[in-house]
Amino acid sequence: MAFTTDAPVHDLERAGAPPRPLIDPFARAITYLRVSVTDRCDFRCVYCMSEHMTFLPKTDVLSLEELDRLCSAFIAKGVSKLRLTGGEPLVRRGIMNLVSSLSRHLESGALQELTLTTNGSQLARYAAELKGYGVERVNVSLDTLDADKFRAITRWGDLDKVMAGIDAAQAAGLQVKINAVALKGVNEDELADMVTWAHGRGMDMTVIEVMPLGDVDEARLDQYLPLSMVRAQLAERFTLDDIDYRTGGPARYVRVKETGGRLGFITPLTHNFCESCNRVRITCTGTLFMCLGQDDAADLRAPLRASKEDKLLHTAIDEAITRKPKGHDFVIDRRHQRPALSRHMSMTGG
Ligand SMILES: C[S@@+](CC[C@H](N)C(=O)[O-])C[C@H]1O[C@@H](n2cnc3c(N)ncnc32)[C@H](O)[C@@H]1O
Ligand code: SF4
Repeated sequence: MAFTTDAPVHDLERAGAPPRPLIDPFARAITYLRVSVTDRCDFRCVYCMSEHMTFLPKTDVLSLEELDRLCSAFIAKGVSKLRLTGGEPLVRRGIMNLVSSLSRHLESGALQELTLTTNGSQLARYAAELKGYGVERVNVSLDTLDADKFRAITRWGDLDKVMAGIDAAQAAGLQVKINAVALKGVNEDELADMVTWAHGRGMDMTVIEVMPLGDVDEARLDQYLPLSMVRAQLAERFTLDDIDYRTGGPARYVRVKETGGRLGFITPLTHNFCESCNRVRITCTGTLFMCLGQDDAADLRAPLRASKEDKLLHTAIDEAITRKPKGHDFVIDRRHQRPALSRHMSMTGG
């Protein structure tokens, strides 16, 4: 059931005028918003979190109504694709109320896509409901098909639950894409089998290079596996044909001839994909990050909470977008093995 939001309709919407698009200083239209709805998670993936994470106090985290207001402000400004992420979005209490509420923007046509990135642990419970609210696709993060390895990578995860979640998602008619982080010495020998498995079930797959975000308990250089090596290994087994398919994101896709499926590579460390960047990210505290790889951010919680009207919020968003940088410069610091950025991926949601 949807909660009712008393968020004011933005002046432009009220006037029936077309929303003013968000254009950054490099003439890129910002049409894609990723929202981390919680910093909490039921897993502790080794590359993402330390085992003993300190989570944010609840008062710092935006309420579901505030998240709705924030997302709606971006949609009024031309964002047409919204991805809920986390932490684990499906462990946020009441998350379906937010999905339900946001689905009004799908109905109105303002939003073209509402989707989420999930670890899949709660999908069995929510898949049908998500589909009912107009979600068509979900990304499920899964790095291995081996239950013991899965437990070792996620520290707390149960592979059977995730598999049941994927089954439920497909049964509900959701398109599923599998995201696997390539981890040296952990799953590199398994990625080809995963491609066969994913494509055999009609799911696209994307391999992600480990990014130097946040302090985790393991040394980054131990985890880092350049995707150039992954691709070379996969090319020994498969014929990989470059294709033009783009999702507006950093992934570059190939068609695997033997399976007929699509395989994406996200290589933030070895490639620069910034020139076509159309996205910004919001944390669950309402901090807007204009670039995944830069520290500069804008606080949207203060303008959001300062007034019931959205004027301050819109001004803050406009101002922040003028500061969207041209690109990032990730480096794994080989001397100090320190993360390039101190925040964890679970803050910005990947
Ligand atoms: C932070 S998670 C949030 C959503 C959800 N909990 C999940 O795992 O799908 C989003 C994505 O970021 C990836 N990720 C987390 N930390 C990463 C890192 N340091 N480098 C590369 N990818 C990372 C995860 O594998 C996942 O695919
Ligand atoms: S990658 Fe996702 S599932 Fe794993 S710890 Fe991070 S937020 Fe949780």
